[in-house]
Amino acid sequence: MTIERSDFSRSGNVDDPDQTVAGGVFTAPAVSVSRLTLTEFRCFPQLRIVVGPEPVVLTGPNGSGKTTVVEALSFLAPGRGLRRARIDEVARWRGDGTAPVPWGVAVRLRTADGLAEIGTGRDIAALGTTARERRVIRIDGQPARGQGALAAVLGVAWLTPEMDRLFVEGASVRRRFLDRLAFGMEPAHADRVGAYERAMRERGRLLRQRGHDPTWVAALEDAMARHGVAVAAARREAADRLTMIAGCVRGPFPAATVSLEGAVDGWLDRQPALACEDMLRGTLARGRAADAETGGACAGPHRSDVIVRDAATGRAAGLCSTGEQKVLLLAVVLAGVRAQAAARGSLPLLLLDEVAAHLDARHRSALFELVGALGVQAWYTGTDQSLFDPVSGKARFLTVDAGRVTPSDDGR
Ligand SMILES: Nc1ncnc2c1ncn2[C@@H]1O[C@H](COP(=O)(O)OP(=O)(O)OP(=O)(O)O)[C@@H](O)[C@H]1O
Ligand SMILES: [Mg+2]
Repeated sequence: MTIERSDFSRSGNVDDPDQTVAGGVFTAPAVSVSRLTLTEFRCFPQLRIVVGPEPVVLTGPNGSGKTTVVEALSFLAPGRGLRRARIDEVARWRGDGTAPVPWGVAVRLRTADGLAEIGTGRDIAALGTTARERRVIRIDGQPARGQGALAAVLGVAWLTPEMDRLFVEGASVRRRFLDRLAFGMEPAHADRVGAYERAMRERGRLLRQRGHDPTWVAALEDAMARHGVAVAAARREAADRLTMIAGCVRGPFPAATVSLEGAVDGWLDRQPALACEDMLRGTLARGRAADAETGGACAGPHRSDVIVRDAATGRAAGLCSTGEQKVLLLAVVLAGVRAQAAARGSLPLLLLDEVAAHLDARHRSALFELVGALGVQAWYTGTDQSLFDPVSGKARFLTVDAGRVTPSDDGR
């Protein structure tokens, strides 16, 4: 493997490990895609895109496949991608609806350690042999055991139009948003959340059964207490980091604050984690009868909310205009990119679906400037190519149409 150091030159001084997020300027080597190959992925039977380390601008008419390309890239992170699709949903629909269709996404990446190849997709051969269909992962040609292995190679951050509803929907989407950012900083967070949710589901199932074994319920409550307090503590740390980093950025993006509201979060304000575990264990034990009725769990980090505010005014994002919410959200996502870079030592891919169209000219040019200064490989999508004029010459422009991706006509 050879390290293409020149690829990182835009990212600043990679020889100085002491450079941090101070002043809002972070320098770290960027992980970037050099080649993307899609097979039977949504509207693309077969697609290959070769790009440099600079940002990519995908433009084309509605329904041409722009979001599909960035969604494919989002499958390089653990989880269900930026549309939270099921594994069978993204397989190209062939109209007959009979045989399951295998699909694949493969990339060649430039990383600080040289080139890496990652592939993921649906393995038809494994169908029927496992209880739940899982994505298969290959890293440098070798099968990887879990999706967590992807996180060791690269980070992926995104902002999509669906996330515009983040501040008006229920708290679970905001928790998932913060969890993804926390997970970008510390991959182990995903395992903690998974372990907590499994214990909670199992306890709920047991409590609904007549004559359940209280020892087994207590063991599950113990697991919920340990993992739950760890989840809350990691979220809190992520929120503090995001607030600190978002507060350093100068320019038209607002300094956003991120905080948590919930019983366990309140306990953590006043008590050490071990005491909070005891409190959660006790609360769950006392709540068994009520939880057996409702099928839920009366306390835990699954009941917390994530509050984003404009630091200057103190106004909660839920009270802001749609455009102001978008700008706050973008500020938090960009803080997440910097936090990931600081924690991992490399910048993630940044997928920005239809973001430029929702920003005014001032915020749009500030975004382009920030992305340029970070040196992150951003993948922008939009229907209107002229919105991206400010990055002409600094980004690779591609046109998506009728299942094909070609260099944009004017050769930008
Ligand atoms: N599983 C599938 N198989 C085949 N085609 C699909 C599948 N899922 C979605 N599509 C189609 O893929 C096309 C591209 O969708 P995509 O969301 O990527 O478009 P887009 O370029 O982002 O459009 P817009 O500008 O409206 O956001 C659409 O026509 C959609 O119906
Ligand atoms: Mg789209």
